[in-house]
Amino acid sequence: MTEAGIWFGVDYYPEHWPKSQWKADVKLISEAGFNVVRLAEFAWCRIEPSPGRFDFSWLDEIIGELAEKGIKAILGTPTAAPPPWLVKLHPDILPMSYQGHRMPPVARRHYCPNNPNYLRATERVVKALAEHYKDEPNVIGYQIDNELSLGDEYCYCEHCVQLFREWLERKYGDIDELNKAYGTIFWSHEYGDWTEIHPPTPPFDRCNRGLALDWLRFRSESFIKFLELQVGIIRSVSPDKKITTNLMGLFPGIDYYELSRLLDFPSWDCYPKFRHVDYDPAWVAMLHDATRCMGRDRSYWVMELQAGPTDGYHGHPIGVTPEPGELRKWAYQAIAHGADGVIYFRWRTACFGKEQYWHGILNHDGEVNRRYLEVKRLGEELEKVKDLVAGTKYRSNVGLVFSYEALWSTLIEEGYYTMSYHDQVLSLYKGFWLHGINVDVISPNEDFMRYNVLLTPFLYLTNRSLITRLKKFVYNGGILIATARTSVKDEYNRVHSDGLPGGLMDLFGMKVTDYTCLPAERRASILMEGRVIQAVGWLEELTPSSAQVLGVHDYEWLKGRAAVTVNRYGEGYAVYVGSFPSSDIANHIVKVLIKRGIIKPLVRVEGDHLELTVREGSHYRVVFLINHEGRDKSVKLYFAKAFRIKGLLKGGTSHGDKHEYELELGPHDAEILYLEE
Ligand code: GLA
Ligand code: ZN
Repeated sequence: MTEAGIWFGVDYYPEHWPKSQWKADVKLISEAGFNVVRLAEFAWCRIEPSPGRFDFSWLDEIIGELAEKGIKAILGTPTAAPPPWLVKLHPDILPMSYQGHRMPPVARRHYCPNNPNYLRATERVVKALAEHYKDEPNVIGYQIDNELSLGDEYCYCEHCVQLFREWLERKYGDIDELNKAYGTIFWSHEYGDWTEIHPPTPPFDRCNRGLALDWLRFRSESFIKFLELQVGIIRSVSPDKKITTNLMGLFPGIDYYELSRLLDFPSWDCYPKFRHVDYDPAWVAMLHDATRCMGRDRSYWVMELQAGPTDGYHGHPIGVTPEPGELRKWAYQAIAHGADGVIYFRWRTACFGKEQYWHGILNHDGEVNRRYLEVKRLGEELEKVKDLVAGTKYRSNVGLVFSYEALWSTLIEEGYYTMSYHDQVLSLYKGFWLHGINVDVISPNEDFMRYNVLLTPFLYLTNRSLITRLKKFVYNGGILIATARTSVKDEYNRVHSDGLPGGLMDLFGMKVTDYTCLPAERRASILMEGRVIQAVGWLEELTPSSAQVLGVHDYEWLKGRAAVTVNRYGEGYAVYVGSFPSSDIANHIVKVLIKRGIIKPLVRVEGDHLELTVREGSHYRVVFLINHEGRDKSVKLYFAKAFRIKGLLKGGTSHGDKHEYELELGPHDAEILYLEE
């Protein structure tokens, strides 16, 4: 979807405002430079006011108004908000708790993705929508549903239970196979037939680990199938329209990597300052990198970008208001990580309903304000840089594995871990982010051969094929870096019985022979190449067979025992760090990789709170530089080669003989440098 260069837009709810307001809205939307608007994702009751009676007239009208200004539309399929008449007609569409209570239809997402009545109603409305707009060139595509599976609800209705049992039967074939896989002899759970199986209920840490993991897999697949139903309808009616859905970063409910295979491109909802006043921009960056890698061809959008204060948290009635410059900066951050489209949520703040304080660009009064002027300035800038930027791609030699299966396995465990799976992945990611090194955040099913370096923090659960592919990657010359608690579990969520890291002892040339959890109040370090490096969360004693010891523990009874090892395996190296990745460990790993010439950064930046990414074009590159602090900054960049450099936003230049570039950034400011050799 590159016809616009960069898609730049806003989520608009015409159904929330009188028609007399629409023209004025469209005028301001167009003057801000927006070229796309998302519409209708919660408008089922207007699209189908009663069973089978459709009314698209209002939607046609607003699409027409927008089209007059050259603005395209992306339409939401409205299935995240089933209308009251549907609940009345089929109360069984409401998800059911384990206690047998139906979820009250008081908010949204009150449906079971496996309910046949809901599937029929979904088919009907999606088909009608797709048919109605199949020849409408101003509708470029669809967002399926909205934030699928948001919330922790698990449905235990008769359909879900029945389908889960069938799912298990297809997977295991024979009930004895399932008994063996789960170890149901524990606490006398041996099943005689499939109907004896009941889905586990939260908290899952009291349940059989294998059953709990299969339930999470089944639930994820249920939503993917629900999406697939809608994708199938739209593709058969209008194959030329693009299909996406709005994800939520690395939210645990659905395996987003699997889901995204069905889409033309994924998109996500990005609210940096929701709940977190001092949010971590590296976390946001990592979610961009993950969403991009979920896409089949590495393209993605931000479907909702924070445009004002969000609603309340921890006793505060309203979230923190984005400071001047932040709205613009967040959009540049998305583009820096490869986004092809950025859409703000939402146009004007709602005066009624649930989200009265989840602010849009405009406040309740609809007047032009500071935030509007900021995005308008951004619109003007994007118009100037879009062609150069759209001609480039974010590329990386470093793949960081995010495994939903490993995540789910950790979520089922007692007390979780000192650091959560997400925290550990972030901690290692951040080492690279701080050095301005592009990283792909990939699924364990990705083709590893496209990377030089593979990072697998806390890869708690593996399966046979993953074990084989990791070995192949290293054997063929790759560098693999793993951290504590790697391959503890097999695909049935059982602990490996033949030593850790399960199935990978030959790859790492060592065995984990002892371990301890490290509570936050205890300090421990690793001594490595004359340096003291802080360890966190977990310590492992590694006993090498063929590996070399790179670092030893400096902690009570583990003092002097191997903590970090490297093993030559085929043409490559497998490194194992016997601790969770502290920021110190992450930083050290990156430094060693750079020192040994394994990663060769194009540019180095001096200063704190700066983010740097590179996008590559055919004969040029663009470097994005973002100031994540609310104060002015003088920045110095050091390039690996001499470039001719042009500042696309600020206009500075340098000539071909220089390796350095200096510039001034304002609070929350950004610059894009155009580089030619
Ligand atoms: C989400 C949803 C939107 C809206 C915003 C604010 O991301 O997709 O519909 O609810 O959050 O809450
Ligand atoms: Zn159900």
